[in-house]
Amino acid sequence: MEDKSKKSLYNFTGFSKLNYLERLNKLKTNFVLSEEDVNFFKNGGIQTPDLGEKFVENLLGYFQIPMGVATNFCIDGQDYLIPMAVEETSIIAAASKTAKWVRENGEIKTEIIGTDIIGQIQFSKVKNFTEFEAAVLQQKDYLIGLANKEVAFGLVARGGGVTNLTVRELIRDDGLSMAVVHIYMNPCDAMGANIINQVCEFLKDPMQEFTGETVTMCILSNLVDSKLTKATVTINNIEKDLAYKIEEASRFAELDSYRAATNNKGVLNGIDPILIATGNDWRAVEAGVHAYAARAGKYSSITKWRVVGNKLVGELTAPLVVGTVGGVTTLHPAAKISLKMMQIKSAEHLSRIIASVGLVQNLGALKALTTVGIIEGHMKLHVKNLSLGAGATEKEMPFVVKKLEEILAITKRISLSNAVEVVKDFRKKTEIK
Ligand code: MEV
Repeated sequence: MEDKSKKSLYNFTGFSKLNYLERLNKLKTNFVLSEEDVNFFKNGGIQTPDLGEKFVENLLGYFQIPMGVATNFCIDGQDYLIPMAVEETSIIAAASKTAKWVRENGEIKTEIIGTDIIGQIQFSKVKNFTEFEAAVLQQKDYLIGLANKEVAFGLVARGGGVTNLTVRELIRDDGLSMAVVHIYMNPCDAMGANIINQVCEFLKDPMQEFTGETVTMCILSNLVDSKLTKATVTINNIEKDLAYKIEEASRFAELDSYRAATNNKGVLNGIDPILIATGNDWRAVEAGVHAYAARAGKYSSITKWRVVGNKLVGELTAPLVVGTVGGVTTLHPAAKISLKMMQIKSAEHLSRIIASVGLVQNLGALKALTTVGIIEGHMKLHVKNLSLGAGATEKEMPFVVKKLEEILAITKRISLSNAVEVVKDFRKKTEIK
């Protein structure tokens, strides 16, 4: 019998030229989507309030954002179609186009550095930090064992659980010592927010008892520098001039926080849509990425591109802690379809894909910015939006789009007022006839 899971996702050339139903059908015939999945999308997604009621209070309905698929990705030697939920016009097109460039001229490799997420227990004022630290560390093995036995036993059974505990001193502005205990835990395939918070709250009482000090609060940290995902993109035999331009663009973002913010936004253009499509907490990942980008005391780029011989090599290292079980990931039909589409085997697997797409998205942006500029690609795709925004009807669309493309080619710029003018013009001409 044919192993559907091994079926290559290629060739998807020309996918973007297909119409909506053809695209769904192509995914079905390639075993990416089932009949049921196709119907889910064709019927407009979730139809009843039941799911929403499970998640939020005072539910009104759902806010729908477009969900598409980026093609051409080959990560660690495996082909992928990447589901992306995002409204920004050029993101999926740019990701697919840049992934094609990488596929044809190089490779994407990933690795995971570390396994543990972090929980924090704050003691806002301790009388003597040295004594406090000694008391906690003396009980370290006992506290870890207790947390694993009473709270994280499910994770322990799956090969995870609490692994370590450290103590940090923070000097307050009144000169007193604040103590923070970090709890390290391997959450396996969960994002782990709930369980690490439970562990920290559970450890509050025994710790207060051992130290005679008072806990102020317990919560996870989104700066998970103990579980990082790294993606590396290599482009072989790249044109020297282009490679150096991309390196210079990278150096700009490494040195300047103003540029770094925009560079990293471009990286997150690739990351957030997958987080949303898979039902992951994108606010948590965003917070972690930005905090990690500022870890040296100054906000900087989370990507780095260098010319190495005749190659261009780019790296992205960031805390990209995601889950593939629990919450929206398990309950939302679109999230389930997204995980299935990528044949995700574990949370780390998903994280590797997310890092890769973020880095490729960054490469696409830097390539465009250092060559033709960003307007051309953005605007080409934006023409339809502008036409709709100007009130063009279905019949008027082809004319309006064509006219706006002509204006764009000449002026390199286009706006809603251009579109309004073109629509007016078209209507005047057809009225005269
Ligand atoms: C736009 O959404 C993203 C870019 O600004 C990213 C960048 O400047 O690197 C194009």
